[in-house]
Formats: sequence, structure tokens, C-alpha cells
Amino acid sequence: MNDHEMEKKLLSIISDIAEGRYSNDIMELTRDDVPHTTRTIAEAVALMMVKVEAREFRLQQLVDELKALNEKVRKNTIDVVTAMAEALEARDAYTKGHAVRVAELSWEIARELGLKRKEAKYVGLAGALHDIGKIGFPDALFGEHEARLPSELVKQINRHPSIGVKILKPLDFLGPIIDYVAAHHERLDGKGYPRGLKEDKIPLGAQIVSVADIYDAITSERPYQKTKTPEEALEILHAIAGARVRLDVVEALERVLEKTSKA
Ligand SMILES: [Fe+2]
Repeated sequence: MNDHEMEKKLLSIISDIAEGRYSNDIMELTRDDVPHTTRTIAEAVALMMVKVEAREFRLQQLVDELKALNEKVRKNTIDVVTAMAEALEARDAYTKGHAVRVAELSWEIARELGLKRKEAKYVGLAGALHDIGKIGFPDALFGEHEARLPSELVKQINRHPSIGVKILKPLDFLGPIIDYVAAHHERLDGKGYPRGLKEDKIPLGAQIVSVADIYDAITSERPYQKTKTPEEALEILHAIAGARVRLDVVEALERVLEKTSKA
């Protein structure tokens, strides 16, 4: 290479580096037989390149650390909120374990319906958190009460999905979970609460949680009702399918129960 060719090569290597393409070609131009000016520039550029590469590497490490930390915070927060939901149930002997069971069943129905793992995870978590909005309720609303409540109390109870949304909203990584909690008492015929959403305006995740919630309430012991068998619960769910809940979700629950031989 003559001097001119070396200069040209130096310029092309520099523009490569400027675009983020690092190579060791620059080292060729730091040899003793390279003219002084070209060599001095090449040495400076080579040094700069090494420093930039080291910084980029460190930066990538920091980004990875941050991502891992973020994931940890996310998981911890979900654990705390889930613990809150479980603590909430401890106020009432009859609902103990309800959130965990609804969470598991919601996850299984979601998977049975072909939802991807990530989406099913959201549905499962919504199952765990669906009644979190009851957390501020007075003790009178828990424990021994009849199926029919005074209208004032009914109004208060009907606000729990919206209160749940308020509690969970700041946790933006919960994504669609918040919508599912918001709509877990909506009905296909629009007679649900709090918004009276109809048909496909209700997210599938919310319908799954709704079916799991109803099934668990029917089959668990409650002060105002006799515990029903899974078969009886499915009969009731079939009777309200189409008006209150989606038939495909009820059928998915049926298949889940068959597989786990709970029915
Ligand atoms: Fe609820």
C-alpha cells in the first residue's frame, strides 16, 4: 500500500467505527512502516475504539442488571399484592383459599382455551386479585350474612371491581390484569356491574375469572348455601351460559374438571 492508499484505508476504517462496526484492521496501520501522521491517527483511533467497546460492554451489563432488577421488583410486587388478596380472605372463614383456587382454575381454563402461557398467567393473576377491591370494606360485609343484603350494602359491594382497579392501576406492569379485575362481574347480557358491558366488550380474561369465581363460590361452603357438587355447579353454569357467561368458557371448565377428575 502506498501512502495515499493507507490514508484512504484509515478513513474507511474510521467511518466503519463511527457506524459501530469495530474491527481490528486499524491495527495494521499502527505498524512502524506506516507514515507518522497516519500511524498516530490510527493509534489514537484504535485506543478510542477499545475504550468505546469497553464502555458499551459495561453499559450492556448495566442494562442486563437493570432488567433483572426490574423483573425482581415486578415479581415482589405481584407477591405482595397476592399476599394482600389472601390476607383479605382471612377475614372470612368461608372465603379462605378462594383467591388461590380461582387463580389456579382461571389459569387452567385459559390454557384449555388455547391461550399462550404469558396470557394465561395474566388471567391466573387476575383470578388471584379479582376481589382485591374488597380490602377497604367494613367487617360487616364479611362473615355471616344472608344471600340477600340491604341495598346500601349491595351498592357498596358492587363498587369492589372499581376499587380494585384503583388499587392496581399504579402497577402498570400488570397490563390486562387490571381490565380483567374491572370486568369480572360484567355479564354478556349487559346486566352486570360496574359498567354494564355487553358480549365481546367484556374481555375473555374477565369471563374466565368470572366462571372460575362462580364455580368456586358454588362448590365451597358458604353460610347461606349448601355446598354443591361439581356436577351441580356445572349444571348451574350451563343454565347461565349465554346470558351471564360465555358457553365456550364453561365448556373449557368442564374439560379441565374432567382432566383433573374433579367432576
Ligand atoms: Fe368479585
